[in-house]
Amino acid sequence: MTTVRAPATSANLGSGFDVFGVALDRPADVVRVERAAETTIEVTGTGASFIPEDPADNTAGVVARELDAPAHIRIDKGVRPSSGLGSSAASAAGAAVALADLYDLEYSRRELVRVAAEGEAAVSGDAHADNVAPAILGGFTVVRDDGIEHVDADLALVVCLPDLVVSTRDARGVVPESAAIEDVVDTVGSAATLAIGMCRSDPVRVGRGLEEHLVTPARADLIEGYHDACEAAREAGATGVTVSGAGPAVLAVCRDRDQRRVASALVDGFDDADVEATAYRSRVGDGARVL
Ligand code: HSE
Repeated sequence: MTTVRAPATSANLGSGFDVFGVALDRPADVVRVERAAETTIEVTGTGASFIPEDPADNTAGVVARELDAPAHIRIDKGVRPSSGLGSSAASAAGAAVALADLYDLEYSRRELVRVAAEGEAAVSGDAHADNVAPAILGGFTVVRDDGIEHVDADLALVVCLPDLVVSTRDARGVVPESAAIEDVVDTVGSAATLAIGMCRSDPVRVGRGLEEHLVTPARADLIEGYHDACEAAREAGATGVTVSGAGPAVLAVCRDRDQRRVASALVDGFDDADVEATAYRSRVGDGARVL
């Protein structure tokens, strides 16, 4: 038997839509695998009732098929589905790393990213590796068609999950089809600032680099209380705030000393809009690891 802890992730980071991703040190899924003649899946934990256990419809089941590694797979969900925190990616990444270990498969971590992305694609219809890449490699990742860049960073983050449901389909539906050149220039500037900030573990540059005016404003409108929460977090010391992935979770970057205040401020900001929310004080974390 192999047990793997696979972390939540936050994709986009504002200026890196469908490109940037970061591993969070919490929350996480725990995936246990045992060799079996055919794959079966059991899901427990947060939001388990919304996750299909049929291996053909579950990201982990598709990963087992891709690796030709049948197993009894138990997934204990710590990452709520449809949260914007890479829930299905955590399960796909956990299964890929666990099954490679269980069957002694000679796959590199980067090859496992491709396998886990296939799992995501089969279930969601879209092969975005911007969540599975950090879930497997850890740290901050830049995903492009021709490869993945990766760097470790040490940075205080807060993710705040409001008690709202925003479907990824709706969140993708509001993404504009074209952009003005001024906005593209602005976004490139933010993305470059953020990448330098990650290389230096610099919360001010990373926070500034979250800023983006193409995708985030349209998505923010789908999240009740978003603007109250952002304003409160900034007043409490956040250096930047944005939508995490497709939402509804919100990601804030801050200095270590402000982390507790930023977490409370985000919850209070949502509360002002009558939305219940849970905040996780997190950091840039490691990729999926065998326990
Ligand atoms: N980059 C994706 C999005 C992440 O924002 O839609 C969610 O799959």
